[in-house]
Amino acid sequence: MSQQVRAVVARSKGAPVSLETIIVPDPGPGEAVVRIEACGVCHTDLHYREGGISDDFPFLLGHEAAGVVEAVGDGVTDVAPGDFVILNWRAVCGNCRACLRGRPWYCFNTHNAKQKMTLTDGTELSPALGIGAFAEKTLVAAGQCTKVDRRASAAAAGLLGCGVMAGIGAALNTGAVGRGDTVAVIGCGGVGAAAVLGSNLAGAGRIIAVDIDDQKLETARRLGATHSVNSRESDAVEAIRELTGGFGADVVIEAVGRPETYRQAFYARDLAGTVVLVGVPTPEMKLELPLLDVFGRGGALKSSWYGDCLPSRDFPMLIDLHLQGRLPLDAFVTETIQLDEVEKAFERMHQGDVLRSVVVL
Ligand SMILES: NC(=O)c1ccc[n+]([C@@H]2O[C@H](COP(=O)([O-])OP(=O)(O)OC[C@H]3O[C@@H](n4cnc5c(N)ncnc54)[C@H](O)[C@@H]3O)[C@@H](O)[C@H]2O)c1
Ligand SMILES: [Zn+2]
Ligand SMILES: [Zn+2]
Repeated sequence: MSQQVRAVVARSKGAPVSLETIIVPDPGPGEAVVRIEACGVCHTDLHYREGGISDDFPFLLGHEAAGVVEAVGDGVTDVAPGDFVILNWRAVCGNCRACLRGRPWYCFNTHNAKQKMTLTDGTELSPALGIGAFAEKTLVAAGQCTKVDRRASAAAAGLLGCGVMAGIGAALNTGAVGRGDTVAVIGCGGVGAAAVLGSNLAGAGRIIAVDIDDQKLETARRLGATHSVNSRESDAVEAIRELTGGFGADVVIEAVGRPETYRQAFYARDLAGTVVLVGVPTPEMKLELPLLDVFGRGGALKSSWYGDCLPSRDFPMLIDLHLQGRLPLDAFVTETIQLDEVEKAFERMHQGDVLRSVVVL
């Protein structure tokens, strides 16, 4: 048994995405079918379409989603039909060397659905990050469903499924921002703005937002940035140093994913400071740095996959903060769009006035 639904597919490298009919199998053992209510458009979806992640076309895009569990397969006990869930791309295995050492957020063997969703001609689809949620329904591993409070709106909640969690976690988990720390965030799209918010939650003393777009900087200020720097107009490294007593920031979060912004992050941190790379580079990018500077400046150079989050721990907690009015997730939803407007949302991504376009079904 299976069902046919509408979904957004990237058929080949660089080509515009198209709305297609796909086949979603009934959930097998350990799997769940989720009726999608909302799914945000993340820059990583665009990376997929551009062939920057892998060559496994056709991709079923979309991975920042919330919805309601429709059916579960044999052996699924943690979620049940009717549950309101955020989809995650870190369904931890419990058995790999990271899980066994009590560090499941590094899990090296995360679960996805075993069965494949296909086009109507049988061509197998590669779901973005094992999710594929620009679709009326999708098939995932049951562990990819994290139950949260139904009172949160799907459009806001779904954003925790990727970019917003990645940004908040880059500050809270990977960067371990603490009270009074100075933080700079380079690139204030959905991910960077969330890093600003995370730094604010952590009690950072100064939060310096850096972007090449004034609208993004304005939003970052609304979310808690104390200073902002337009790095098209002034040198980011000098500006950050100036705002931190000449020293640089304790934690610099790079949320663009390019060598030149990484270099800025590297030199804009204080001695013994921390750089967190949360932006995703593409395969051809290279970084060259004097090794003596890497050594001599000390500190830590870290990368942050998914904000080192543990969905079962972090999603319900952040949704609770949101419902208490302490985490303005709604501020990330710039516009709600239809399933057939994802291509337009990719174009708007470059215009700077959008933090997140969210497909609402
Ligand atoms: N590590 C993770 O787990 C994870 C999760 C989601 C997204 N990402 C990645 O994070 C990055 C940001 O994603 P997003 O959805 O926020 O994208 P976005 O397009 O919404 O934001 C990117 C921002 O960077 C700014 N920017 C571009 N070039 C810049 C430069 N030279 N200097 C300063 N700012 C610059 C843009 O103006 C924009 O505001 C992407 O690479 C994405 O793939 C990583
Ligand atoms: Zn594991
Ligand atoms: Zn994403």
